[in-house]
Amino acid sequence: MLTISGLDVFYGQSHILRQVDLHVNQGEIVCLIGRNGVGKTTLLKTIIGLLAPKTGDIRFEDRSLLSLPAYQRAQMGIGYVPQGREILPRLTVRENLLLGLEARRTKKIDVGATLAEIFELFPVLESMQNRMGGDLSGGQQQQLAIARALLGKPKVLMLDEPTEGIQPSIILEIEAAVRKIVTDTKIGVLLVEQHLHFVKQADYYYAMQKGSIVASGPTTELTNQIIQQYLSV
Ligand SMILES: Nc1ncnc2c1ncn2[C@@H]1O[C@H](COP(=O)(O)OP(=O)(O)O)[C@@H](O)[C@H]1O
Ligand SMILES: [Mg+2]
Repeated sequence: MLTISGLDVFYGQSHILRQVDLHVNQGEIVCLIGRNGVGKTTLLKTIIGLLAPKTGDIRFEDRSLLSLPAYQRAQMGIGYVPQGREILPRLTVRENLLLGLEARRTKKIDVGATLAEIFELFPVLESMQNRMGGDLSGGQQQQLAIARALLGKPKVLMLDEPTEGIQPSIILEIEAAVRKIVTDTKIGVLLVEQHLHFVKQADYYYAMQKGSIVASGPTTELTNQIIQQYLSV
């Protein structure tokens, strides 16, 4: 569904991504691992259209995304939860959620029913609807950020280190929610993650080092050696 091939990306003169190939299928969680600074966030930003690659292609449902601006990629179904969450602290939880609807092409949306589905997935958000986003805990903000992305009805959801700085019990809730989304809706997920338990929930992994994919395979084949080499655990 999402196919990245031969991608080279630069920041100015710095060559960040080198010949990156990666594929995400429908109904599959694909995890991208790698130590800090190897280029994981750069890859996600290139997919959503914030950075332009020098060479290579990004294809989604058999169409190249390269000529499309970021908002059109979002409308086509590329959902994104940035590293650090980026919820709006001075808007309420409900207002933050409604912003997620902006990514939809159709504006004929049953808001009540749509929010009810989201609250089933993340019950804590329902009771906190009228609180300011900035008053939520880190874990709740992450749930809000994921919920907001889901309201755009993505076909591929990209999550950049969703468990960074979050307490273990909430990590498990987030893991379970992501798995449920994939099972129920058959979307694809591209997950950048350092938390080993979550990495193992994925179906397939890619390991990145200095901007190149250096290992990949089903997560059942993740060895301790690969984990020690590429995860900051
Ligand atoms: N805005 C930027 N300008 C220049 N270099 C950047 C910028 N953002 C990131 N980099 C560099 O690009 C490399 C990859 O960064 P990033 O993709 O954020 O890594 P990761 O997400 O794997 O930790 C790092 O060396 C980082 O210093
Ligand atoms: Mg990053």
